[in-house]
Amino acid sequence: MASVWWQHGVVYQIYPRSFQDTDGDGVGDLTGIHQRLDYLSWLGIDAIWISPIFPSPMADFGYDVSDYCGIDPLFGSLADFDALVAAAHARNIKVILDFVPNHTSDHHPWFIKSRASRDNPKRDWYIWRDGKAGGAPPNNWVSQFGGPAWTPDAATGQFYLHSFLAQQPDLNWRNPDVRTAMYDALRFWLDRGVDGFRVDVLWLLIKDAALRDNPPNPAYVPAQAGINRFLSLYNADQPETLDVVAEMRAVLDRYSDRVLIGEIYLPLERLVAYYGKDLRGAQLPFNFQLINAAWTAPVVAKLVAEYEAALPPGGWPNWVLGNHDQPRIAARVGAAQARIAAMLLLTLRGTPTMYYADELGLGRVVIPPAAVQDPWEKNEPGLALGRDPSRTPMQWDAGVNAGFSSGPPWLPLDTNYRSDNVEALRGDPASLLTLYRHLLELRRQHTALNSGSFRLVGVEGNVLMYDRVAADERIVVVLNFGDSAQGVSIAEKFSGAAVLASTHTPRHIELGALTLQPNEGLVLLVS
Ligand code: NOJ
Repeated sequence: MASVWWQHGVVYQIYPRSFQDTDGDGVGDLTGIHQRLDYLSWLGIDAIWISPIFPSPMADFGYDVSDYCGIDPLFGSLADFDALVAAAHARNIKVILDFVPNHTSDHHPWFIKSRASRDNPKRDWYIWRDGKAGGAPPNNWVSQFGGPAWTPDAATGQFYLHSFLAQQPDLNWRNPDVRTAMYDALRFWLDRGVDGFRVDVLWLLIKDAALRDNPPNPAYVPAQAGINRFLSLYNADQPETLDVVAEMRAVLDRYSDRVLIGEIYLPLERLVAYYGKDLRGAQLPFNFQLINAAWTAPVVAKLVAEYEAALPPGGWPNWVLGNHDQPRIAARVGAAQARIAAMLLLTLRGTPTMYYADELGLGRVVIPPAAVQDPWEKNEPGLALGRDPSRTPMQWDAGVNAGFSSGPPWLPLDTNYRSDNVEALRGDPASLLTLYRHLLELRRQHTALNSGSFRLVGVEGNVLMYDRVAADERIVVVLNFGDSAQGVSIAEKFSGAAVLASTHTPRHIELGALTLQPNEGLVLLVS
């Protein structure tokens, strides 16, 4: 087994508003997560990453933090948090928090001071500039949620920068006092026993010192989000960002066994830079390539091979199928291929991150217009940008509100919850949940899977084959990305193999003439 937990373990993302509510307000809470730890143990994950739980006006559902060292009452208290960490650790489950350093809430005391006057000591903690003649913003930057990235502030007559909502002013990471304050916040949680952080929009932290205009994006079409109108040349991925990442890592390295995970949406060659010089950066720069890839064996084979080749020596890979900002995997590839996706995620080399309820096969939940919550959808309606369909409540049972809450949930449940819920699926040997649990168990048991080498064996039509090898075992994974049966000529090489897992249950195969059923995947123990 690889030496550290964040390498051989599996991370499970919890969107806390939607996991388990215990006080009937329709929004999940920390006590709810605590109560569901036994489920997570049963499932077999190793770490939970909890999306933000800090005090927040919730303009962006917690990604607008007004106090980095507290818990929002909606989610509970610091005592609830400590109890959750202790209970998770007692079950060998690590706890990863979501750190949001690029911006605060406009309610954060730092911003309230910063906007009060041009000479306030906190003024330079944010990014303030004069507008252009005629009242135009300082430059052409666009908010990720649409509209200008600058808002004028009447009190001092200047504009402040916000890469997201106007309620999320960007901190000035070129200011050393900001860095010190934020590293103190990291230490606050590390001292409480937190095992690591997923860092929000890590590649956006530093902006061009001269705040130059971004060039137009020649490929932009109006059906896209406004952020695509320009190329993010000057507002993202500036060279100095890597210094900040190294500093954050140094804070974590004063503690043992902690992990720094970075949210980074960049092309591969830039993404891998975030491992840092001599691997002193993020241990896991999130690899989102499977999220946007066309779902075919040749495409996935190519991207896996290119990723493996691009990793810096010693850099540990990781894989992600979805998160709270993306359409769910089952919505993208369909129910049958969601099983292939599970097998792929849990058998590739590197740390997998699962997204809550993907193990139930939850798809795109229909959100009636009156129920929309996501500020992005509200800012740029009609472009299908809304993230609510991937953030709906966890479906625990067939009872009231799927066992999620005694009160009306903040987002609607999927209409399928009476059949597709944990209680129903955990007893069904053919369910996706059972497959996930089995794959997680295999991954834990087999060194080849959790730490072994990776080799692309080949692609035949729409079938992808690779192997994972550790000292004394070789495991071959064969995945049919297509919906028709396909023979695999390489089968004779696997004679004597045992089937460790199949997407199709029960599965007894004649390996001498291996024909994969439509949408079928196999994990084979070859030696
Ligand atoms: C990325 C987060 O994942 C997303 O949910 C959030 O809206 C933005 N960052 C802003 O914090």
